Amino acid sequence: MNGGKRVIILDGNIMMKRVLVLGSKGMLGQELVRVFAKVGHTVTGLDSGDIDVTDAPATRERIVALRPEVIINAVAYNAVDSCEGDEAEFGKAWRLNAEVPGELAEIAKEIGATFVHFSTDYVFDGEQKGDGYDEYAEPCPISRYGESKLGGERSVAAVGGTFHIIRLSKLFGLPASSASAKQSFFVKMGGVARDTGSVSAVDDERGCFTYAPDLAAATAELLLDEVPSGVYHLVNEGAATWFGALVEYFRIAGIDAAVSPVPGDAFPRPARRPKDSTLRNTKRPHLRGLSEALLDYSVKSE
Ligand SMILES: NC(=O)c1ccc[n+]([C@@H]2O[C@H](COP(=O)([O-])OP(=O)(O)OC[C@H]3O[C@@H](n4cnc5c(N)ncnc54)[C@H](OP(=O)(O)O)[C@@H]3O)[C@@H](O)[C@H]2O)c1
Repeated sequence: MNGGKRVIILDGNIMMKRVLVLGSKGMLGQELVRVFAKVGHTVTGLDSGDIDVTDAPATRERIVALRPEVIINAVAYNAVDSCEGDEAEFGKAWRLNAEVPGELAEIAKEIGATFVHFSTDYVFDGEQKGDGYDEYAEPCPISRYGESKLGGERSVAAVGGTFHIIRLSKLFGLPASSASAKQSFFVKMGGVARDTGSVSAVDDERGCFTYAPDLAAATAELLLDEVPSGVYHLVNEGAATWFGALVEYFRIAGIDAAVSPVPGDAFPRPARRPKDSTLRNTKRPHLRGLSEALLDYSVKSE
């Protein structure tokens, strides 16, 4: 089902549920807490200061006591380059990204809760020559981070129960309060531009961007619609390179700086990136376009 573009409006006229958001102080988690509370659900947010999801027995006990009807996992290991060549770091990535999601899905299944998990375009190799990967495309990661996220998709699907695996890419949003949350690309580049008056951005890696508040709203709507278990692609419409997106953001935000396009190998990084990991959303109403999302982001960041 693809209903074409539609503005997502949640009007509060919904069945209230007990919702648990794990990773509630991350960039996405903070928006999930805000959106789900706004539409009337009873939301509990837990982050690293409240729970260590790698401690399986303690996590089980805590979740079972809360009796959530929906468990949303926004916890992840996101240091793409750190885990590429370092076995200890990859161990952490595998535990958090591949094993823990399966354990959480198991708890959800046992208590009859719906499980929502987030994954990434980095499960694909980026070699597709068409108009993007749909939800049925075969994953083939080219980085160890991508392998760990694919491991999570597989462990969740293997458990069964009611689950939604939502792939996103290049998340941006308001800064998160958690210690290890990544700064969004636009904040980082805006800072460099203000300091130096010019920036370079990669122009041979293409993909979709995802505005955290839009993804949170689309996630709430997906649950409201009681869609079947499976994989979903929820990204803002309109693929772009890092360079293209940055030029658009600077134009919208009125940042006066020179932006130069460069190839990816101008910034040597341990982990390979897919060349074109555009995600196609063929199952759900489309999120608004990147420019509109950037406009909202730019206004809210002021
Ligand atoms: N960021 C992107 O560009 C991007 C792209 C594609 C997909 N995704 C996916 O989108 C989802 C959300 O990502 P995000 O960028 O919002 O993540 P994030 O900002 O890094 O937030 C993750 C949160 O989880 C917490 N956490 C980490 N380890 C934990 C543990 N053992 N127990 C409990 N909490 C723990 C972190 O706390 P601390 O900071 O204190 O560790 C942080 O608050 C993830 O599944 C990610 O893989 C993100």
